[in-house]
Amino acid sequence: MSPAIQTDVDLAPLTTLGVPAHAAYYCAAGSEDEIRSALAWARTRDLQVLVLGGGSNMVFVSDFAGLVLQPMLRGRSLIGETDAHYLVRVGAGERWHDTVEWTLAQGWPGLENLALIPGNVGAAPIQNIGAYGLELTDRFHSLEAFDRNTGEVQTLDRAACRFGYRDSVFKHPGGRNLIVLAVVFALPKTWAPMTGYRDLTEELGARSIATPSPRDIFDAVIAVRQRKLPDPAVVGNVGSFFKNPVVDAATHSSLQARHPKLVSYPQADGRYKLAAGWLIDQAGWKGRALGPARVHAAQALVLTNPGDARGADIVALARAIQHDVQAQFNVTLDPEPIVVGASGEQ
Ligand code: EPU
Repeated sequence: MSPAIQTDVDLAPLTTLGVPAHAAYYCAAGSEDEIRSALAWARTRDLQVLVLGGGSNMVFVSDFAGLVLQPMLRGRSLIGETDAHYLVRVGAGERWHDTVEWTLAQGWPGLENLALIPGNVGAAPIQNIGAYGLELTDRFHSLEAFDRNTGEVQTLDRAACRFGYRDSVFKHPGGRNLIVLAVVFALPKTWAPMTGYRDLTEELGARSIATPSPRDIFDAVIAVRQRKLPDPAVVGNVGSFFKNPVVDAATHSSLQARHPKLVSYPQADGRYKLAAGWLIDQAGWKGRALGPARVHAAQALVLTNPGDARGADIVALARAIQHDVQAQFNVTLDPEPIVVGASGEQ
């Protein structure tokens, strides 16, 4: 089957940041066969291929001269059970948030802490998305991926995905050749609420909910996110623009001695994760603009495109923030989204 390839496609509506950029070629692939033939089509023309998920973690600094391939495989179903888990398979092109809501409606809770995260299911393992005390890896069983090098479909279990904090094998050599087709979740049959994250504890407290249902947590997470994070349908953004940096214990204690209010979280390996939002806030950037790009007023970790920003404006703002945080705290901030284009692809 020959895929429907479109030419000169506006990428702004396909991304949550909404900065101007065009793809020379674009294909929405609804099946493994369509992915296969789109890749073959690009190969004969010697075109670079960029795989786009829900576009919620990508910054286009320039136009893309190759083929933007968006896997849009659909489908959600229960494919099995173990003693402890329901195994639920979801196509890469399903919307993440709709999938969370659907699992709750089916009576299979476990994803509710990850409500309202923008993007598609296929991108969720690449970032190992996380929020309010839960990461995708905690509910992951396996995934199916198309290997661009061999043309074969592989099944990867959790170990093979090498999940880390906002990290996985798919971001590294050896995994970049894989296109996620479907994800299988392991949702617990014995559900227990995860309410330890401070914002969530406070929200449930404010609602006088002592023993929350999965739906209560879903609703509370949505409320917290709506309060702190800009709605990408209204103001362009990619969520957190930087990862929370992890530093060794010695660096942490010297920082804490100089900044007693430093927000940090001890890690299992003895290191400390620092709240990048706090560092950026302290550096004076919260709510500030640089040209047409702006730092969100309710969460300094989020950079926004209020309307007229280009990818380069967002990157310039990110660099200014990195510079100031480095100068003030001697801490390096690493961007979370993928930056595509002139100033260097990550
Ligand atoms: N803080 C400030 N000023 C700010 C922002 C934050 O002082 O402007 C402080 C907060 O008061 C809090 C701490 O920094 O003490 C952490 O802030 P928050 O709870 O908002 O979480 P975060 O660490 O900034 C992370 C994730 C978010 C996720 C939330 C909730 C990363 C890079 N970000 O943000 O994920 O929703 O925790 O779990 O890990 C995303 O990845 O795109 C994302 C939105």
